[in-house]
Amino acid sequence: MSQFSHIPPGSPFHPENSDDYARWRELRLSAHPCTPEELIVPLRNATNPSPKETQAILRLCQRANMAVYDTGQRDSGDSPQIPEMLQALAARFGLVGRERHRSMRGHELVDIRVASTTERPRQGFIPYTSRRLLWHTDGYYKYGYKGARPIRAMLLHCVRDAKEGGENDLLDPAIAYIRLRDESPALAAALMREDAMTIPAFEEEDGSIRPESRGPVFWVDNGGNLNMRYTERSRNIIWANDADTRAAVDFLRHLLREAEEPFRFRLRLKPGQGLICNNVLHTRSAFIDHDDPARRRLLYRGRYTNRVGENISLPTT
Ligand SMILES: [Fe+2]
Repeated sequence: MSQFSHIPPGSPFHPENSDDYARWRELRLSAHPCTPEELIVPLRNATNPSPKETQAILRLCQRANMAVYDTGQRDSGDSPQIPEMLQALAARFGLVGRERHRSMRGHELVDIRVASTTERPRQGFIPYTSRRLLWHTDGYYKYGYKGARPIRAMLLHCVRDAKEGGENDLLDPAIAYIRLRDESPALAAALMREDAMTIPAFEEEDGSIRPESRGPVFWVDNGGNLNMRYTERSRNIIWANDADTRAAVDFLRHLLREAEEPFRFRLRLKPGQGLICNNVLHTRSAFIDHDDPARRRLLYRGRYTNRVGENISLPTT
């Protein structure tokens, strides 16, 4: 299995290491939160969370790759202080390696809201509509070409919620990996191959080219962490043309859409709440926005190349 030489033999994610996988699996399943409510950590001061609050978020990200902080600020007003607060909060968790994105504003967070029909370059991209978003991890196309900086963490903060809808379904990639490897180690191995998933090159509106992105669905970083890149979309994606890959993709799709999965959570972020995560699998349901422009749904999103809690010194409680 030379194609897995980049994964250390002692890693639980090495396809031939079933002993360490079994131990990791047991720990992971027993530690995982059982309800979305368990993910929520109230913060007294989001700009400067206490050591206890910080630890609670870090621990949830170890157990489930995600946490939901709650600032309690339900007034739903946008202000320059919100991006500043989010940057300070993200930095507290070591999230500073922000990506570059066509829709970024000065503060390097992207405001997710319904764009007008003439707004460039957002017009035509589903995140800036009220339509549903299929299962994906963020920035799945930022991998496997020269200069690519894979997205390993994400922050999604709700300033204002929709009149109706706009829920997120969430699944920890570690759970997706466990379900797939339990189904068949060969299927899990297929999605760890370097040629598993290819996103064709894309020409941005400014004429720049994002190169073809080819790589695994599940990949292990230099710190030994399991990461995932995935999209449920069927256009502009090329899966490796073999039976194991096809079966693995079908299994994932079934797991995400239909299977009884106790750790697949549905959440509707309230104003003042935000998801901080190691780029977990997520969706967004369609929504109906408010008529009043000042009340329309608004979220801020940050994407990061490092993971939650990576390279920080832990606060003491
Ligand atoms: Fe997303």
